[in-house]
Amino acid sequence: MRGVAVLRRLTEAGGTLSPSALERATGLARSTVDRITATLARMGYVRLDGRDVVLTPRLMELGNAYLAALRLPALLDARADALADELDESVSLAVGDRDGIRFIHQATRRRAMSLSFRIGDLLPAERTAPGPLFAAEWTDGDWRRWHERRAADPEDRGFPAVPPRPPLPADDFEERTAQAARNGWALDDQLIEPGLVAVSVPVRDPATGRIACVASVVSHTSRHTARDLRATLLPRLRETVAAMERDLAAAPPPAPTAPPPSDLATWTAASKQELGREFVESLARGLTVLTAFGEDRPSLTLTEVAKATGLARATARRALITYEHLGLVAPGPDRVFTLTPRVLSLGFPPLSRTSLPRIAQPHLEDLAARVHESASLAVLTQSGDEIQYTARAATSRIMSVNFTVGTRLPAPATALGRALTGPTTEGYALVDEELEEGLRAIAVPVHDRTGRAVAAANIAMHAARHTREECVAELLPALRETVSSIEADFHMAARFTRVALS
Ligand code: PHB
Repeated sequence: MRGVAVLRRLTEAGGTLSPSALERATGLARSTVDRITATLARMGYVRLDGRDVVLTPRLMELGNAYLAALRLPALLDARADALADELDESVSLAVGDRDGIRFIHQATRRRAMSLSFRIGDLLPAERTAPGPLFAAEWTDGDWRRWHERRAADPEDRGFPAVPPRPPLPADDFEERTAQAARNGWALDDQLIEPGLVAVSVPVRDPATGRIACVASVVSHTSRHTARDLRATLLPRLRETVAAMERDLAAAPPPAPTAPPPSDLATWTAASKQELGREFVESLARGLTVLTAFGEDRPSLTLTEVAKATGLARATARRALITYEHLGLVAPGPDRVFTLTPRVLSLGFPPLSRTSLPRIAQPHLEDLAARVHESASLAVLTQSGDEIQYTARAATSRIMSVNFTVGTRLPAPATALGRALTGPTTEGYALVDEELEEGLRAIAVPVHDRTGRAVAAANIAMHAARHTREECVAELLPALRETVSSIEADFHMAARFTRVALS
């Protein structure tokens, strides 16, 4: 539970905190914070950057497990994106999360005027358009919880993604809920911030008739008033939602597969052996339980969780009970467990707004420190004739090769350009003194999830320091390892979010 608290505080802080700030934010003792961050670092979920603890893209595997099990983004995102393109407005998909709503997809138009939300952000239901649609399905207990939360948190401090609650003239959420139930759509007339307006329609699960998620079109009062959203955008949103419901009805049901058995038990034992007291085994085991879920494993029994993680039944049971208590796992019928939208609160919002250069930077720095040469990332420019540097890690050598981020060079003359445009014989390009006398560089392509080369990474040096043979024998293996690490993070981040290439 304390490990989860550390991940939540890091997420709310935007992904980075010093250990002492973590100590203050969680109220935990410094020694506990240190043990938890050492365990998370061992799992690859955080890295230590100087004095700071920083969330890594690897952590997105938890939210990815939830989104894969839910299946909705994969089934519906193309229609949401197409509607956003057609209307030139942002379109989002959200699910209900207790008395809030949480985004599972965002097709965002870049606009300076208002804030835009990230996948995983939680908003108070009553300040959104999807909220009253979900609330139409609330039980008395849900309404009680909502009243309690409103009384306990009058400024919405529990929702760090939204500005503080403005003093509303009247609290009409119950009335808006009744209206939403009658109309089958709902509006947000600047409930979050001045200027921001939205219209929402529920996407119903064809099997149960209940709301699977809510689709929204978001605009600004400079383009649409809340009133005219109904006339101008609601009809197109409704057509899209009807098509989404047809897609859901046509989707084949998940074909349950047994999760692959994992060697987690061996891995945690070895980590414990190596790190001793610094390694919190229960945290590592618990978090791995979450990754047992996925696309073809939307719900699992205790036995299946134990098998998937290699944990003893009693251990898996304790982890599930703890996570149920934290609201990350919910018990379903027939003794199965499912993940809840709250799993997205473990790192997803800040990590979902990233770019390939940001993902690559720490890996390039590790590489540069390891081989004592500078390392860079580049992409092809629109024309395809040039490469442009997008990230770079220099060494402290005085005679280091110096191209800064943004520099453009002719693609055919550089190893980066040749690695990107191919063909390469052995998966790398080595260029000798072509661009500049005395310069030598070796580069490897970086592939996206579909296998397309979208960037390249290199090591550049003065020719006098390494022969061509040394470049291939000594530097290339290190460069390949770095590119594998960059690709692993990139593919994890890009599964349900759009990762900018530059
Ligand atoms: C959004 O997708 O950003 C959004 C959706 C509904 C709202 C507000 C914002 O009510």
